[in-house]
Amino acid sequence: MMEEVHELLGQAGHTGWAVAWALAAVVVGLVFWKCSAGARKLRGITPPVPPGSMGWPVLGETLAYLNTKRANEGAQFFKTRVAKYGETFTTHLLFEPAVSVGAPDGNKFLFANENKLVQNSWPSPVVKLLGKHSLAIKVGDEHKKFRRIFTTFFNPDGLQTFVPRIEAITLDHMAKHWEGKDTIRGLATLKEFTFAVAADLFASVKDNDPRFRTLHNATEDFLGGILQIPIDLPGAAYHKGRLGRDTLYTIVETIIAERKQELEQGTATSRKDLLSVLLTTRDEEGVIMSDDAVKDNMNLMLFAGHDTSSTTMSMVLKYLYLNPECLTEVIQEQREIAKDKDGAPLDWNDTRKMKYTWQAVQETLRLQPPVTATFRVALQDFQYGGYTIPKGWKAFWSNERSHCDPKYFPNPEKFNPSRFEGSGPPPYVFVPFGGGPHMCLGNEFARTEMMVFLHHIVLNFEWKMVDPDEPISVDPMPLFKRGLELQIRKKQNL
Ligand code: HEM
Repeated sequence: MMEEVHELLGQAGHTGWAVAWALAAVVVGLVFWKCSAGARKLRGITPPVPPGSMGWPVLGETLAYLNTKRANEGAQFFKTRVAKYGETFTTHLLFEPAVSVGAPDGNKFLFANENKLVQNSWPSPVVKLLGKHSLAIKVGDEHKKFRRIFTTFFNPDGLQTFVPRIEAITLDHMAKHWEGKDTIRGLATLKEFTFAVAADLFASVKDNDPRFRTLHNATEDFLGGILQIPIDLPGAAYHKGRLGRDTLYTIVETIIAERKQELEQGTATSRKDLLSVLLTTRDEEGVIMSDDAVKDNMNLMLFAGHDTSSTTMSMVLKYLYLNPECLTEVIQEQREIAKDKDGAPLDWNDTRKMKYTWQAVQETLRLQPPVTATFRVALQDFQYGGYTIPKGWKAFWSNERSHCDPKYFPNPEKFNPSRFEGSGPPPYVFVPFGGGPHMCLGNEFARTEMMVFLHHIVLNFEWKMVDPDEPISVDPMPLFKRGLELQIRKKQNL
């Protein structure tokens, strides 16, 4: 146990140690007291709560969960527990009891019962960093009302108009970061691309704007702190994340002020970018979003909108490199599209014609999803799978449970995009974007930027992984431990 505690505190940085130990002692006492009271109460519940283990006091099974994820073996955490306790089991994660449910039934149950039996729920340190106006933490009618505003930008009709802008950023990115190079750090380069798309489409900040780099670095710090032990002291990752958020807010404030002026003067339209949409779209009661809400949500979008896609694209490059027959098929598809276009810019319909390329991305999302689980909280005691899930407990879906289940994906470790041909896997089994009212807002956006990028990359470049066995660590997203070094070569004859 001591080793585990040291490992946990290691993340907090040495300066946070003394305070952390003192806090831990107080918390242990309180939790022991609370747990024994809780356990007495739970003993009387029929049907009983799902079987499982609450793990260590305070920490529960958090370390076991995080450790398997860091080793990129998240599925193992679930496999051993499902074998021991069955499909629905209890664990204790991030300081709270949590019930893990399986696919497809459990996923469907949680997604369909949002706002009835369960509600979207993030750990309180995450809520604190995201800000109280963040779309991701809103619930119920307020979430619905709020989400409708974003949908005007993120739905296919809204996104269509931005395809030329995404293509221009892709071509500019290739010229700056790929042309004339023999090797690149794949992950960093892809992050540069997805952040360039996000900063431009969300806030019209171009990569030659002096604020671009500060915004990018602050977003990375923010991401690094979001799922960490909440110690707001120098040296702690959470603290760095909080500082990153403060920097983001300061810059976004200046951008909001500029944009309001442009909108007033008529030099910007209400559809210029996401920021313009947020500043001009009224909700059902005719109310415009407050500046504080705009800040929280620009922060959310910059962070949610780029690391997920860059991580996925880095994995796509890996899987296509390791599966040359799939790469050949992707290239063939893109050549046909390029031939039909005859030099004209890509449009929305082209991105939706890229069927096999999208299947290759889906297969990548199956094997290495950037977001593996999210939590819901029980709004009342309810029954599921023959057990009681008590009010206040967390219940969570995880795609690590179903994405590699041979029942749904025969020979699951094999990269085989054709699995997604036709109707693909059964509903609620392949869930890289979650589901229900909180399903990923940016899934069409992510698909569009990935299709445009892959179109140009596979037609113009060859790449080779310097280390095809480079290990991956998931913390909180899957990342190549050495950044995915790639040898690249420009193709001469298209
Ligand atoms: C490959 C790329 C992406 C993946 C795999 C992904 C995955 C996810 C997942 C699993 C969720 C949680 C859903 C749930 O709890 O049921 C989520 C939520 C969300 N995602 Fe994505 N995401 C991606 C890209 C993006 C992009 C590009 C954006 C653009 C801004 C974005 C914005 C959001 C937002 C705002 C939410 C919260 C939605 C809400 O609570 O209403 N995501 N995403």
